[in-house]
Amino acid sequence: MKSNILALLSAVSSASAVVLPARATYAVVGKPEGFASGTTGGGSAACAVPSSISQLTTWLADSTARCIVLDKEFNYIGSEGSVTETGCRPASNKCPGNGGQDAINHADWCTNGNAGAGVTSISVTYDKAGVSGLTVNSNKSIIGAGSAGVLRGKGLRIANGAKNVIIQNIHITQLNPQYIWGGDALTVDGSDLVWIDHVKVSLIGRQMFVAGNSASNRVTISNSEFDGSTSWSATCDGHHYWAIYLTGSSDLITLKGNYIHHTSGRSPKIGGNSLVHAVNNYWYANSGHAFDNGAGGQVVAEGNVFQNVVTPLLENLGQFFGSPDSNTNTACKTYLGHNCVLNSFGSSGTLGGTDTSFFSNFNGKSIASAATASSSIASSAGVGKL
Ligand SMILES: *[C@@H]1O[C@H](CO)[C@@H](O)[C@H](O)[C@H]1NC(C)=O
Repeated sequence: MKSNILALLSAVSSASAVVLPARATYAVVGKPEGFASGTTGGGSAACAVPSSISQLTTWLADSTARCIVLDKEFNYIGSEGSVTETGCRPASNKCPGNGGQDAINHADWCTNGNAGAGVTSISVTYDKAGVSGLTVNSNKSIIGAGSAGVLRGKGLRIANGAKNVIIQNIHITQLNPQYIWGGDALTVDGSDLVWIDHVKVSLIGRQMFVAGNSASNRVTISNSEFDGSTSWSATCDGHHYWAIYLTGSSDLITLKGNYIHHTSGRSPKIGGNSLVHAVNNYWYANSGHAFDNGAGGQVVAEGNVFQNVVTPLLENLGQFFGSPDSNTNTACKTYLGHNCVLNSFGSSGTLGGTDTSFFSNFNGKSIASAATASSSIASSAGVGKL
C-alpha cells in the first residue's frame, strides 16, 4: 500500500507541478474583540492562494472583497532592487564594533537634527521593497495556512480610507532590520475596522506597528507576537527600540493577548488622540521602556504581565490608568463593563497611573473583556497557534 502511494505521488508530481493535495478549507478563525469588533474583512469571499508576489500585490490593492491565503513564504526581497546612497550613523549609535542601527536619510532625518549632534555620514545599501508597505484596500482577509504564511521583505499598509481588514496568522519579517527607516511592518493611517490577530513581527528596520497621524478609528491587535530580538539594536543590546507607535488623530486601539518581547522602547509610544485599552498582554525582557504616553494619549492598562521590564511607563504627558489597586479599579466598571484587573510585575519597574477622568470616552464602544494577568500568553500569541 505504502509503495502504491509513493508511486502515485511520484506520478502526480512528474505529471504536473500544480496538483495540490486535498486540504482543509481556509477561513478566518474567530472574531475580533474590543474596538474593532464587527470587522469582517473579505467576508464570505472564497479563500484563494496567490500564485506569485505580483498577484498578491494586485489582490491586496484591488477593490474586490477577498480572502487571501499565504500558504508559504512570499519573498519581496530583491523585487524592487536595492539602493546605495548616503545615510548616517546617528549620534546615539555608540555601539561597539560598528554594531547598532544606522539610518537611511528618510525625510532628511539624518540632516535635520533628529540624528543628533555628532551624526556622521555613511554609505547605506538597503532593499527597496522594504521601505514601502503593500497597499491593502477595503474588505480583505489576509490569512496564513498553519505556520507557513510568511511575508518577507515588505509590510502591509492600510491607509487613505481603506477599511474592514483582517490580518491573521502571518509572519512579517526582514525589512532592512539594520537600518532605522528600513521599513514598517504594519501601518494603519486613515482607516477603520482593522483586526490584526496571531501575527508575528520580527527583524524590522523601523516600526513593527504604526498608526500614523490620520484617524485610524477602530483597531484591535490581539494574540500577536512582537519579537524585538535583533543584531542591529539602536540600544546596543540586541533589543529593538521602535516597536509600536500610536499617534493617530482619532484612534481607538485595543491591545489584547499580545506577547511583546526583547524590545527596548516605544512598546508602545502613544500620542495624538488615541484611546488605548491594553489588556492581558505580556511584556517580557524589555531593556528600556514599554509605555511612553505623550500628550493626547489615553490609556487603560489592566491584567498585563511585566516581566524583566526596566521601565513599564517612561513618561506620562497624557492620561494613564494603570489599574493600581482593587479599590481604585472599581472605577472601570461603569465605563468598561468590568472592574479593572491588576497588572503583575516581576523584576520590573512600576506603572503608576490613577487618572480616571477620561473613562467616559469608553462609553458606547466595544470593550474587550479582562482575565487575570498570565504569562501563558507567550505560548498562545503569534503564528501557528490557531
Ligand atoms: C467594502 O464592502 C462594503 C460592504 O459590502 C461596500 O459598501 C464597499 O463599497 C466595499 N469597499 C470597497 C473598496 O470595495
